[in-house]
Order: sequence, then structure tokens, then C-alpha cells
Amino acid sequence: MKIIGTGSALPSLAVTNNDLASFLDTSDEWITERTGIKERRLLSTETLYDLAEEAALKALKASGLRGDQLDFIICSNVANRFITPGMNCILQEKIGAKCAGLDINVACAGFINALMLADSMMQAGRAQHILIICAEEPSKYCNWDERDTSILFADGAGAVVLAAGDGFKSVHLSMTSNKDVLYYERCMEKTPFEKNRKEGQPLVMRGREVFRMAVSQSTKDLKVALAEAGLKPSDVTYYLMHQANKRIIESVRTLLDEPEEKFPTNIEKYGNTSSASIPILLDEMLAAGKIHKGDILAMSAFGAGFVSAACVMQWMY
Ligand code: UT7
Repeated sequence: MKIIGTGSALPSLAVTNNDLASFLDTSDEWITERTGIKERRLLSTETLYDLAEEAALKALKASGLRGDQLDFIICSNVANRFITPGMNCILQEKIGAKCAGLDINVACAGFINALMLADSMMQAGRAQHILIICAEEPSKYCNWDERDTSILFADGAGAVVLAAGDGFKSVHLSMTSNKDVLYYERCMEKTPFEKNRKEGQPLVMRGREVFRMAVSQSTKDLKVALAEAGLKPSDVTYYLMHQANKRIIESVRTLLDEPEEKFPTNIEKYGNTSSASIPILLDEMLAAGKIHKGDILAMSAFGAGFVSAACVMQWMY
């Protein structure tokens, strides 16, 4: 399997750390130093479906395919306004597709899990062309009265079109049931029969724990995925890491003993866009002409669950 087109879309509203400091007990200095984030994009006038459509249409255009040539759509999303139908159904008509699809929720590791699914479908002969759309709006489930998660998360969408063939070399997925470190508990409708009804609550995060697990698991996952691909860390051209915290990326880099220029970031501009962060970064790197045929890309992501995933691919065009 190989990627033949990418696209991304971000909200028009840029919110700086100083904007947040005007109503939260925080500062530009603290956020920059602890996370690397300077500003983020937040939905204001657009909807998440607008972003997802824009990213998908850009990826299709780059691939040279029309929507009706797709065999399957996979959407990665943690939460959006519609519980049902799935985001893939909502987007199908907008992008001119006729095929079936499904939504997955593997938190911030959704993109790599979607790649694994797409690769499995292609290997089973069920599809030749698959569209993955990662579209996330975590700003809609952060607690905006608190500084803990609202400074980190942001909205955005990234998409890739995949075709059967060579390129995807290995994938490694991990999961440990540890709900309490990061969760969003949604409020459901009231029934006349439910006893002891629980209200929902915005995103809860034990940041330090997530940080520690992220660094150790991401390093492990990358080593396993590289070994499965028969490669060494030094063979990698770029490590495309989930953009969660610049210090997490820096810690993984140090543990792998690899140079800084192999770890591109855009967290400074966009914050943590959950599962959309890697496809957005990939799209930007391609647009900037930084990725070339034959390059080895290693990707790693982690998030609520606790889940993590890494994969290795060779760039084919
Ligand atoms: O997609 C995956 C999802 N999540 C993550 O990847 C999150 C991983 N964790 C992190 O990125 C970091 O743990 C955070 C950025 C969330 C927090 O950074 P930290 O360096 O772990 O800070 P901390 O929670 O240990 O807090 C240090 C201090 C505390 O004050 P005291 O007790 O030392 O006086 C906090 O109260 O910083 C304070 N603090 C803040 N100050 C200003 C915590 N948040 C803020 C804030 N602004 N936003």
C-alpha cells in the first residue's frame, strides 16, 4: 500500500497563548516552555465537516482520483456532533464517493490504526483505493474554565488517498486499559428508567502520567516497527510524531539518539489536533518539497486508552 495524495484543512481562527492568558491562569512563557505551542487553530465559523471535506477533496485532487473511484472511506474521529450517522456517511456525498466506509475512534493514534486497516483490506483484495480522513474538534470537549487541556488541544483535519502496491513496511499497535489518565465522558439522553444517572464531564487528563507513558511507549513502538521492517533508527529519513508536546518528541528523539532535523514539528502553529496531527504534518512536509521518493518515514502516535501505534513506510513518488 502507498499514499498517492494528501490534503489538510485548518480553521481560519488562530488563537495565541496570550489570547488564552486573557481569560485563563496561564502565560505565553509557560505554554511555550512546557509544550512548544505558540498558537492553535480553533473552529469558529466553520464546522468540522467543512474541514474534513476540504482535506479530503485536496487529497483526492493530489491523487488524481475522483471520489467515485474510491473503494472505501475510513474516518478517524474521537467525537463530533453526530453520534450517528458516522462521519464517513456524512462526507460520502460531499466528496462524490459512492463506496462504503466506517468510522474509527482510536484517540490520537487513529491515523496509524486507519493505515493498518486500509493495508489489511488491500492485502485481502477488498479494495484498491481507500481514503482516510482524520478530522478532530477537541476544542468542543475541553473544559474552557480550566487551563489543563484547553491550552493543548486544537482542531483540524488531514486526509490521505491510498492505493494498493508497495510502500507500507510495518505497523505495531499497543493498548493498555487505563481510562483514568485521559477521558471525555459524554452526557447521554435521559430515560425514565435509569437509576443513578451520571452527568458527563469535559476532558480529564493526568498530564504527567500521559507524558511518561507517551515517551516510553512511543520509543518502544518505533523500535518494534523498525525492527519488523528490517531497518535501524538511522535508516529513517523523518520521524513523523503525533504533535502532542514538543518535549515528548524531544525525549523520544534523545532515547533513539537521532538528530533533531529528522523530527519535524508544527505543534508551534497548530497545537495538538489529535489523530489529525500526523496527516496534517505529512501534507505540509510534502507541500514544502521535503519528502522525496525512497525516503523512509516512521510514524508514532499515542493517546487516550492508553493506546499507541507506530508504522514505517517508504515514500513511493
Ligand atoms: O494526545 C495525547 C494527549 N496528551 C498529552 O500528550 C499530554 C502529555 N502531558 C503534557 O503535555 C504535560 O504533562 C502538560 C503540558 C499537560 C503539563 O506540563 P507539565 O510540565 O507536566 O506540568 P505539571 O502538570 O507537572 O505542572 C507543573 C506546574 C504546576 O504548578 P506547581 O504545582 O509546580 O506550582 C501546575 O499547577 O505548572 C502548573 N500548570 C500551569 N501553569 C500555567 C499546569 N498547567 C498550567 C498552565 N499554565 N496551563
